[in-house]
Amino acid sequence: MTEHEMTGHDRFATSVPARAEPFGLKGSAGLDWGMQNRLARVFRPSDGRTVMLAIDHGYFQGPTTGLERVDLSIVPLLAHADALMTTRGMVRSTIPAASGTPIVLRASGGPSILRELSNEQVAVGMEDAARINACAVAVQVFIGGEFETQSVRNMTRLVDAGQRYGIPVLAVTAVGKELTRDARYLRLATRICAELGAHVVKTYYCAEDFDTVAAACPVPLVMAGGKKLPELDALTMAYRAVEEGAAGVDMGRNIFASEDPVAMIRAVGAVVHESAKPQVAHDQFLRR
Ligand code: R5P
Repeated sequence: MTEHEMTGHDRFATSVPARAEPFGLKGSAGLDWGMQNRLARVFRPSDGRTVMLAIDHGYFQGPTTGLERVDLSIVPLLAHADALMTTRGMVRSTIPAASGTPIVLRASGGPSILRELSNEQVAVGMEDAARINACAVAVQVFIGGEFETQSVRNMTRLVDAGQRYGIPVLAVTAVGKELTRDARYLRLATRICAELGAHVVKTYYCAEDFDTVAAACPVPLVMAGGKKLPELDALTMAYRAVEEGAAGVDMGRNIFASEDPVAMIRAVGAVVHESAKPQVAHDQFLRR
């Protein structure tokens, strides 16, 4: 029967149950539509993973290596990133609004590298995050740090505001110099963030038992890159993290400080979205 031959009654398809697409991202099924929609822009719905490019270092470090000229070094990478983690100053001054790359907006700050880093405050109002069309806001949480409670409070304030506006909160677990990045610590830090309302948690990789860190965190975990490594090592770390349960990466220096940032972000993308083995992705990087 062609559409023209259908009766008015047929067009209601009364025998076909209404479709209800489940929202597959870990721990996110109960979120409101706006939150799910924003998360679906950051995490590809096809695999639930993201390659987030972190360039927010300037908010406490100034123009660090690779970020001296964001217009020249980062804008060409936008097409290859699932999301960009940056500050509102950099968004408004330098990131083309037409790029379409979802923004994860740094929303805590205060101290510089010259001071106690855990002494942060909320640095962005949720209304401004909405105005920027941010897909999430990011806040540093210093579990075990000097201003631990204050940083947790920053996060819970943002979670409350984010719930009102439908904007998810990404908690960044910061590891102080005196804290060990082992699975025991990372399980503690990530779980506290998730229990207190973070919708996504960013944490470091640890060689032993990272799978238990991911398993114990009820929301998506993204892996932080950390200091610059040789490309093969960084790709290996990303590969292991996603194999062991991370929903992707939020990498900065290992991408923008690479000798070829475009080739590197594409290689990271192959690891995260195509499960390319590290050596295969590295060969792809070398063939750039
Ligand atoms: C934490 O301080 C910020 O989010 C950093 O900008 C981000 O974690 C750094 O990324 P990476 O360690 O990969 O350079």
